[in-house]
Amino acid sequence: MQLSYVYTSEELSTIRSTISHLPTMSKSDAHAMNLKVSTGACPSHLGPFHKLNDSHPDLYRKLVIDAFVVKYGAYGFFPKAYDLIYLSDESPNITFSGRTRGRVAILTSSSYNMVIKPLQNSKEAEIATRAGKLEVGPNQFDSLPGFLSEEYVSGKFITDNSANHDIMPQPVDIGIKVGSALSKLHENQICYNDTTLSDPEKRSHLIINQAGNIKLIDFGLSLSLNEYPNFSIEETFNYVRTMPIYRIFSAMNPTREDVHSFLKSYQRTFKEISPDTIYDRDIQFLTEGLQLMGDVLTEPDKTDFMKGFYEAYKR
Ligand SMILES: Nc1ncnc2c1ncn2[C@@H]1O[C@H](COP(=O)(O)OP(=O)(O)OP(=O)(O)O)[C@@H](O)[C@H]1O
Ligand SMILES: [Mg+2]
Repeated sequence: MQLSYVYTSEELSTIRSTISHLPTMSKSDAHAMNLKVSTGACPSHLGPFHKLNDSHPDLYRKLVIDAFVVKYGAYGFFPKAYDLIYLSDESPNITFSGRTRGRVAILTSSSYNMVIKPLQNSKEAEIATRAGKLEVGPNQFDSLPGFLSEEYVSGKFITDNSANHDIMPQPVDIGIKVGSALSKLHENQICYNDTTLSDPEKRSHLIINQAGNIKLIDFGLSLSLNEYPNFSIEETFNYVRTMPIYRIFSAMNPTREDVHSFLKSYQRTFKEISPDTIYDRDIQFLTEGLQLMGDVLTEPDKTDFMKGFYEAYKR
């Protein structure tokens, strides 16, 4: 433990408040930050903290000489990560992933693994917490506003398999687990809305651990039906974005105002769309996605998967 790098609780709260403002940074603030970095006035790993140079110069100098900030940047200051990095002798590995939502940091060490990711929608933290408690998604930890800090699910993605080899656990068993996971979500008014077993680049949201249990990761597009039929514009967008009607509309290069009025008018139609229709889309995505997984699952595998799914899926 390098005690000289431990921060006072006041310093930590200043740092954490700076981090919490990052996801909602204005364009002009982002521009100012990039300028500081590109002109060399601020080292790139300190970009998120550059304003502290004026407001809290002593704290800024402390960050400048902190070797952990070079390695972990802002991620080292998240509650669980801070304990692991600054208050123990561990020095976890850090890797990065993520596309749609921005940078996802994955911290792994002998004692502890965790993931820190920016929120993709304003209800994601609440939905991910519910899904974690249902043991369908990763457990959620204390985090900072604007970000999730969650359990790293170790295991294999379903797409790590190949149709030339027997897949373990058997597809019927994976189908049963997915059926029961979606049942739990739907019983608890959550439409996962992203049952992507595989995208064209073989990225998946389904992780299977060594014991053969599954977890779904990424609740960035999920919808809570707690307030059905009332959905926000953001939720309405997440619901329509994959629909043919929206694809055709967006191909016409709509203005921001056009998009807003399209979503507003769609928002009013939810009272005519039953919750069952909304939950059905999780099954529709699943069956459509399976058809595109010829290199991962054979035709009999796919049939077995869906047989298992319908055995376990109850609504
Ligand atoms: N809890 C987790 N446990 C293990 N790996 C995770 C976890 N969360 C995210 N990952 C890894 O990070 C990747 C990106 O995370 P996520 O799907 O939440 O972000 P994204 O921006 O939607 O990325 P993508 O477009 O790749 O799906 C995942 O595909 C997975 O490899
Ligand atoms: Mg994703």
